[in-house]
Amino acid sequence: MENFVYQNPTKIIFGRKTQNQVGAETALYGKKVLLHYGGSSIKKSGLYDEVVKSLKENNIEIYELGGVVPNPRLSMVREGIKLCLDNDIDFILAVGGGSVIDSAKAISGGVKYDGDVWDFFAKGVVCQDGLPYGTILTLPATGTEMNFRCVITKDDTLEKRGASFLNPSFSILNAELCATLPKHQVANGVVDMLAHLMERYFTNTTNIDVTDRQIEALMKTIVELGPEVYQDPTNYDVYAQIMWAGTVAHNYSLCVGRETDWATHQIEHELSGMYDVAHGAGLAVLFPAWMKYVYKHDVRRFAQFATRVFNVENDFFNQEKTAYQGILALEKFYKSLDMPLTLRDLDIPESSIDELASNTTRNDKITQGNFVKLQTKDIKEILLLAR
Ligand code: NZQ
Ligand code: ZN
Repeated sequence: MENFVYQNPTKIIFGRKTQNQVGAETALYGKKVLLHYGGSSIKKSGLYDEVVKSLKENNIEIYELGGVVPNPRLSMVREGIKLCLDNDIDFILAVGGGSVIDSAKAISGGVKYDGDVWDFFAKGVVCQDGLPYGTILTLPATGTEMNFRCVITKDDTLEKRGASFLNPSFSILNAELCATLPKHQVANGVVDMLAHLMERYFTNTTNIDVTDRQIEALMKTIVELGPEVYQDPTNYDVYAQIMWAGTVAHNYSLCVGRETDWATHQIEHELSGMYDVAHGAGLAVLFPAWMKYVYKHDVRRFAQFATRVFNVENDFFNQEKTAYQGILALEKFYKSLDMPLTLRDLDIPESSIDELASNTTRNDKITQGNFVKLQTKDIKEILLLAR
């Protein structure tokens, strides 16, 4: 186990009707608020009205910026920064899924930075300060509601890049708000949270039984309950568990003391940047392909994944077979959620594979992943397996 420091400053307010606490909570940080949201979902569900009411009851002045799109854009971030600076806004409230929250994160960092906000993504500038912000999560998936990560797409080049900013000051998590989610978004979210756990699970670090077992517990829960929320997102008791699993999966408490991978996420970000596919859908296509390419690097770990998470029967005389059965079980799980399983299913042409692979390594300037370090040629093989 490696040395680590872990600190997570985000306050979580979890449960039914908790969105009504947003005004009082926001008032602890500011009086002029940027209310940031996506398309029409929060207006259709009535959440928008509830939030505005709660903010007004607490005498908070509201400035609005809606219209964040999935795979959020840099142009919207710039608009938000300008709005905050022009109006001396002192707090941002993001209401929506991961895209809205990530957009708010980048605005938060950009407001307090003298240079161009894209520097955080392109030049790796470290964020020193940010405007405080809070969230109401409406789509359990990304874990962004309790972490510092943020992924933004540059409009003209379609580069989709990650950066780190402040954590949210608070996040309100009420699974009742998920009842309006379209089924495919529920599934995308389930796939994404499972992926965050697998990115941590496949590691070369040893003596990590505690986090192994914690990750397995969450993976098993997601595999068991994921199909249930997919069938019925209005089932609060099930969705509440999935919601919390999604938050813990990516709040960085489960990667303490261990190296993590992230190659599949990096390849997926190229895919969703270039082709605007949903993040979860891209992951469902790529994860089994990545596994098939790397599993022989540590057959024992993959066999452990197969037996402990998917209850595959352990063939002690053929660990490779056990390991492979786990990958097939993962594909079967994705199928139960009606996820796409090939690049073809996503309408991504085979002719794009070379470009996707070389963009992921910035033309072999960097490698991706830690479990196995991948060069362009490796990523190309993975994409061919995902065809
Ligand atoms: O825009 P609206 O109308 O709100 O509709 C959204 C959107 O179309 C809809 N939706 C959200 N909540 C709803 C709802 N519809 C009905 N009822 C509700 N309760 O769902 C659609 C997708 O929303 P989006 O926010 O794009 O999805 P998600 O939460 O999956 O976020 C994906 C983005 O997060 C990034 C992804 O790359 C992608 O850009 N990620 C961020 C991470 C982080 N910051 O830590 C980690 C992840 O690995 C990921 O990369
Ligand atoms: Zn993800």
